[in-house]
Amino acid sequence: MTQFRLPANSRITPGKTFKAPAGAKDIRNFKIYRFDPDSGANPRVDTYEIDMDACGPMVLDALIKIKNEIDSTLTFRRSCREGICGSCAMNIDGMNTLACTKATEDIKGTVNIYPLPHMPVIKDLVPDLTDFYAQYAAVKPWLQTRSPPPPDRERLQSKEDQELIDRPSACILCACCSTACPSYWWNPDRYLGPAVLLAAYRWIVDSRDEATGERLDYLEDPFRLYRCHTIMNCTQYCPKGLNPAKAIAEIKKKIAERQH
Ligand code: SF4
Ligand code: SF4
Ligand code: FES
Repeated sequence: MTQFRLPANSRITPGKTFKAPAGAKDIRNFKIYRFDPDSGANPRVDTYEIDMDACGPMVLDALIKIKNEIDSTLTFRRSCREGICGSCAMNIDGMNTLACTKATEDIKGTVNIYPLPHMPVIKDLVPDLTDFYAQYAAVKPWLQTRSPPPPDRERLQSKEDQELIDRPSACILCACCSTACPSYWWNPDRYLGPAVLLAAYRWIVDSRDEATGERLDYLEDPFRLYRCHTIMNCTQYCPKGLNPAKAIAEIKKKIAERQH
């Protein structure tokens, strides 16, 4: 029988509250999604009262403070702390973004933090990105050449050609865009999603690459590319200010042009 309700074990239950130390004057509440698959318990939302006078300015600073000083069981990914690695992507205050570049003072009231939406959760704020990376690998995100022999120096580009790949190359594969895309939510196994399509586009427009036809062949598919319905969430959510929706439209245009 069709089930219209969420399974009972996916319902979020109230969690614990960790009080601020006595004497704290500038307190912010952080409500954080917690899920431990080994416990067998439902997910819960724990509340941490943070003394902002003893905390750095970014949401990631608060998460690190919680882990170091309050609750070492809190699990999240981070590495660079400066918006380069993409690993601290999560849903903060209703938006997919990077915890290390999101200032707590830009959020009003309680700071609500959840994992990136519509992905399986490994633990707490850590989503399972295995399929996302497999899709990335499937578009062969590397230079492919066909004409031997290889040159004995770098393959040069004009300034104009470099500018075509300059912005798409700035993608840090954080998955904020793909996990904000309703088309990706409904078909994550068949639609490639904006991050991977932006990566595909970056190689399609690279003047040095010689596999453009094969790359377009792979994308010319009702699901891989054409599930994009130009909803534009991807571009709105990208913390690096990139425009995957435009790249997807350009790929569609290139496929349409070669059919004439
Ligand atoms: S423009 Fe396309 S890829 Fe971007 S959110 Fe909309 S459907 Fe998803
Ligand atoms: S396009 Fe932006 S949101 Fe999407 S993966 Fe790249 S950096 Fe992240
Ligand atoms: S920690 Fe690297 S992008 Fe946030």
